[in-house]
Amino acid sequence: MLSLPPGPRRWPFIGSALHMPKHYAWRTFSKWKETYGNIIYLDVLGTPIVVINSASTARDLMDKRSSIYSDRPRPVILSVLLSLRAGLDQTFPFKQYGEAWRTQRRLISQYLVPSAMPEYHTIQGEEARKFVLRVMSNRDLHWTSESLRKQVELGIAASIFNVTYGYPLNSVDDIFLRQSIRVMDDFSKTIEAGVWIVDMIPQLKYIPSWMPGSGFLKIARDVRSNYEADNETFIPSICSAAHSSNLSPELEEQLSFAAFSALAAGLDTNISTFMSFILVMTLHPEIQAEARAEIDSCVGNLRLPTLDDKDSLPFVRSVVTEVMRLYPPGPLGVPHSLQQDDVYNDMFIPKKSIIIPNVWYMLRDPEVFDKPEIFNPSRYGGLDSEMLKVTDTTFGFGRRVCPGRYFAENTIFAIVATLLATCEILPPSDSTGKECRSEVPVAGTGAIA
Ligand code: HEM
Repeated sequence: MLSLPPGPRRWPFIGSALHMPKHYAWRTFSKWKETYGNIIYLDVLGTPIVVINSASTARDLMDKRSSIYSDRPRPVILSVLLSLRAGLDQTFPFKQYGEAWRTQRRLISQYLVPSAMPEYHTIQGEEARKFVLRVMSNRDLHWTSESLRKQVELGIAASIFNVTYGYPLNSVDDIFLRQSIRVMDDFSKTIEAGVWIVDMIPQLKYIPSWMPGSGFLKIARDVRSNYEADNETFIPSICSAAHSSNLSPELEEQLSFAAFSALAAGLDTNISTFMSFILVMTLHPEIQAEARAEIDSCVGNLRLPTLDDKDSLPFVRSVVTEVMRLYPPGPLGVPHSLQQDDVYNDMFIPKKSIIIPNVWYMLRDPEVFDKPEIFNPSRYGGLDSEMLKVTDTTFGFGRRVCPGRYFAENTIFAIVATLLATCEILPPSDSTGKECRSEVPVAGTGAIA
């Protein structure tokens, strides 16, 4: 007789609901590894949840058996929120595994394959330079994390907008930029620190509001009334690619959802990675100096680095990889859902299980990374094969793997290399000129956004 994977005690009807972490779930799941191992089973009001705490197990299941591990759990709150934005729940990151998902994914991923990347080098390089220019021309400003973040939003979003819509972004106040950031902020609010897990479990929708954990209902109501109060509607944009091909009206509609998917999925992830990079550089001036020295010796100081220099700058690539390892924008990746009963190492995994990859642990697994808590780009020895241990995890699994991966890596590289070549990133100072260093905040929000 096969048994379920080990996990915290389950009670009749509520299952393991009382054990579910409410904040920073990835930390609790990581601690549970000591007791239960690489696969942990939870049951919340009848919904099976499987947490995976090892990259090789995630590969065995989510990569090698991707034909049955590629569905998405049906998000409840999310669909309520997103439908307010005129059908955003139609975007393929949230779609069930099936024809509509496949069509949209195919439409967008053909523009994001590695061979298409050189076409975007110029845009990504130009936007990186514009970002640095904007920051330098305001060098007398007292940058706060908010004002810097707005510039980073613009710097990152400009490439994505340009490539998905052919739309030039020039201002932090651009209406399209602000609307997209707002959608992502609202989305992040609803999935914040452990609360998101509730979204995935349909039964919890019916929990009365006095029960612990039901604060998410209030968040959803607040966000909804914000939109209603502002009487806003989603502004559709036209994907430039649609103009140049003979797409049927149905496909054109799918393309616009697919393009918005890329925008939405690519914004927060890239912004958060680049913000982490800036913070980490203030904490490790010696690593910053080493990366700059590599650029100086490879590129010289008569020109700025470009994406064509990427192959010759392994240390800069390692710095970016190390930021992604320690501060993944999605510490719990994006959950998948299992389409049929499965058996793995004599354990029974039931159909419709929500599969949660604990990416945060995988990237700090001491069996894979020596002294994992230390920020050490040299650990990769400059080898892409070593860096893949990080990027093959942080960009997700199986048929759902991030289609924007190569584009994202290039956007981040371009902006990082340009910034390092031109500026020294220093910690802020107080009114007396004394440096105030801050720790990197706890990573991510628990999902991709
Ligand atoms: C540092 C940047 C990024 C990270 C860490 C990241 C990570 C991820 C992860 C973990 C997933 C879920 C994979 C899974 O379900 O297993 C995902 C999905 C996705 N990403 Fe990214 N991503 C990034 C940037 C981008 C960019 C720039 C784009 C678009 C240009 C993009 C487009 C998408 C889309 C459309 C999906 C949904 C795929 C699907 O459900 O089939 N991402 N990403």
